[in-house]
Amino acid sequence: MPPTLRQCFYMALPCRGLLVPLFRSSWGRWRSVPAQYWRNPQQPGCMCFGSARSSGDPECEPHTPVLLNEVLHYLDIQPGQVFLDLTFGGGGHSKAILRSVPGVTVVAADRDPVAFRLAQKLAEEYPGQVRPVLARFSQLRELLPSLGLADSGLDAALLDAGCSSMQMDVAVRGFSLSKDGPLDMRMDGDRYPAMPGAADAVNALDQQALTSVLATYGEERHARKIAAAIAQARSFHPIVRTQQLARIVAGAFPACAEYARRDRLQRPSHVATKTFQALRVFVNDELNELVAGLQEAQRLLRPGGRLCVLTFHSLEDRIVKRFLRGEDLAAPRRGGVRQLIRAADEEQDGEEGEAESGRWAHLRRKVVLPSKEEVQGNPRGRSAKLRAAMRL
Ligand SMILES: C[S@@+](CC[C@H](N)C(=O)[O-])C[C@H]1O[C@@H](n2cnc3c(N)ncnc32)[C@H](O)[C@@H]1O
Repeated sequence: MPPTLRQCFYMALPCRGLLVPLFRSSWGRWRSVPAQYWRNPQQPGCMCFGSARSSGDPECEPHTPVLLNEVLHYLDIQPGQVFLDLTFGGGGHSKAILRSVPGVTVVAADRDPVAFRLAQKLAEEYPGQVRPVLARFSQLRELLPSLGLADSGLDAALLDAGCSSMQMDVAVRGFSLSKDGPLDMRMDGDRYPAMPGAADAVNALDQQALTSVLATYGEERHARKIAAAIAQARSFHPIVRTQQLARIVAGAFPACAEYARRDRLQRPSHVATKTFQALRVFVNDELNELVAGLQEAQRLLRPGGRLCVLTFHSLEDRIVKRFLRGEDLAAPRRGGVRQLIRAADEEQDGEEGEAESGRWAHLRRKVVLPSKEEVQGNPRGRSAKLRAAMRL
């Protein structure tokens, strides 16, 4: 059974207690709008902005693997070993491992049916060496034993968090801020047709809950203002398209602010970027899934087995850092959303001084960041952080 929007909301990790009560009253109003209304842009009342540009074939968008040499170095996979790629995506990391390590077995897992099809193609190229698995991290525990993978049966694992280019760049998937498409953002595609998408979230959550989602998962300082703009806009028409949402968010700020923010490369970034991140994380329950993925790696890796984790924003990296330190991730962190954001900034600034957890030994004290050259060639990897650890 796919999770309902209510369950997604309930499962939200970092401030579960804060968010749940805010949700209670919001679902009923949106539930009355039929799903086909927002998935079909031809329905009356649907506002479409910009050109509905899409490259068409979701499998043709290339994904460039991030920190590839560094990942290969820290995984240090030997001939004949078993490697679990928890996030197969376009298969960039897995393919490099298959090319460079004779006789390796790759368990290629992903929640996205597009990635699964690519893994199936790769299995044809490397008969007997690639085992495609279509599953979320949280479903692996049930599925992997049928592949003969027992606890402590793995030599290496990679978790490359977030989205692939095949998801981000394909307008119909609804992740992209710059390409108009249905406001969807479900990494599982249509595997669970009843699973709520981003349009469900922006139209159903009440204003206060939406504020919390934006502040928590997007670390958006103007969450309240943006949520108010969304609430006002949806009182006229449901919000169903990506660029419709981008314009509503931009409309909450003076015109000169639309691209006034800067990304880490000091390039102008759209004022709705954090809103999109927040919705994506919320819709896909990404933070709970990340914890499930780390727990799976911990269960499956043998002593001496190696884990690499690539993260792309501070929410993810903080979870990985705390997990490898052996902290209890279910323990509530004290403080409101603002305090959590401030604490995150401080953690980012004073990066290291890692404690060993008793279960993991760090293979490198500091996180590995992409070089300037790599970022120039692949700007999408600019915020990547790699953590590498060995199972004790
Ligand atoms: C950054 S891409 C991986 C790219 C890959 N390493 C490559 O080189 O092509 C992340 C992938 O992880 C998948 N993913 C994200 N969360 C997941 C989860 N909870 N369970 C399974 N797959 C997940 C996404 O569908 C996406 O395909």
